[in-house]
Amino acid sequence: MTEAFFIESQSLPWISEGFPAGKYGYDEAAGSELIIGFNYLPICLASQTFVICTLNFLVYFCPPKLYAAMRRIYFDNAATTSLDPEVLDAMMPYLTEKFGNPSSIYSYGRETKMAIESARKSVARILNCAPGEVFFTSGGTESSNTAIHAAVNDLGCRHIISSPIEHHATLHTIESIAQKGTAQVSYLRLTDKGHIDLNHLEELLAGNEKTLVTLMHANNEIGNLLKVKAVSELCEKYGAIFHSDMVQTIGHYPIDLQTIKVHFVSAAGHKFHGPKGVGMLYIHESISIKPLLNGGAQERNMRAGTENLYGIVGFARALELAMQRYEEDSKKIAELKSYLCKQITDHFEGVRCNGDADGSSLYTVLNVSFPRNEKSEMLMFNLDMAGICVSGGSACSSGASSVSHVIKALYNGQSENMVPIRFSFSRHNTLAEADEVIAKLKELV
Ligand SMILES: Cc1ncc(COP(=O)(O)O)c(C=O)c1O
Repeated sequence: MTEAFFIESQSLPWISEGFPAGKYGYDEAAGSELIIGFNYLPICLASQTFVICTLNFLVYFCPPKLYAAMRRIYFDNAATTSLDPEVLDAMMPYLTEKFGNPSSIYSYGRETKMAIESARKSVARILNCAPGEVFFTSGGTESSNTAIHAAVNDLGCRHIISSPIEHHATLHTIESIAQKGTAQVSYLRLTDKGHIDLNHLEELLAGNEKTLVTLMHANNEIGNLLKVKAVSELCEKYGAIFHSDMVQTIGHYPIDLQTIKVHFVSAAGHKFHGPKGVGMLYIHESISIKPLLNGGAQERNMRAGTENLYGIVGFARALELAMQRYEEDSKKIAELKSYLCKQITDHFEGVRCNGDADGSSLYTVLNVSFPRNEKSEMLMFNLDMAGICVSGGSACSSGASSVSHVIKALYNGQSENMVPIRFSFSRHNTLAEADEVIAKLKELV
């Protein structure tokens, strides 16, 4: 441990109540906030009371060295994925010797500019669009914000059609537009399995106003897939602008932007083993909009600010790898999902799958609800303590799961008796891990 300092536990009485007197350290190198000696781990795990009472301590002062020493199972790949070592290899030169500003006209700048343009070409080839239609951004959130604001401010959309189960990057953006009164928002009805009701979409599109339809291709919580081609055809029929948040599908499916008639698409590198903080906005060549950020002329005046060079290189490499491995990985991951789903539904009473798990659904996401009781209330938290990383709705400050806006919308608000858990997978997960998770769930539920 470098540059570490230690504080006696007595100086933090609320901590020392839970732990024996000892040393707690801060490790700058590990980026941790507080480290507890490894020998204290059994105490954390053994004492439920302690764990629950001092949740904030555990959450906010999570000791990375303990985590590093624990065997963990990562089933939260819809939140983010690990960086592929081959992606890191591609990024490394741009984190080290090739550091030039791509806007500089001398050789340092030219070599990094070339790297960005070659990344753009590679992404365009994979998505079957023109390189000029690909704009690199900081991620899914920025891409969706840019598209939605542009549709209203630059393309004259006065009506936005969306769904109540979109990601907050979309929902909060359209809510802010609705609050300002620049456009009116309509939310689509959902079917029993949480799919968008396309008849309702057509009814709403039949109005006269210039409309933006913003719908995600795959739902990040329940995995439901949108009939994106059918939606694009309806939008074309009624002259609507169509934005699709494809953050959970780009890098997970072959996407052909010549087949899907869409005006804007959002993507994020960290969902397919690329780096965080980099994304893409596809803008159809027929569309002319103003940038969200004002400043330099980067990204052909569409996205000001010095480019995230190594991120862009990593994004393109990750997408290439994801598509090369698609057949093999998607098959393996789909098998894992269906295995875990069967094991859970066979072994736990009252469990229900949220969304359309065995129908039109993302192969990387499985969302199930356990009946709410004293034990299941703390399920997410107890799984974390057992080294199993999953996600639920949003965790409230007591550590108990609260139900997310997606699950609430799916069950028309009648979801308070459920504890939803989202398991989401990557190429690195195995059936053996699924078995371990099942064994642990049997203890915890
Ligand atoms: C469906 C969806 N849209 C948008 C986002 C936001 O992407 P980012 O974190 O890259 O801004 C996410 C990330 O969780 C997502 O899952």
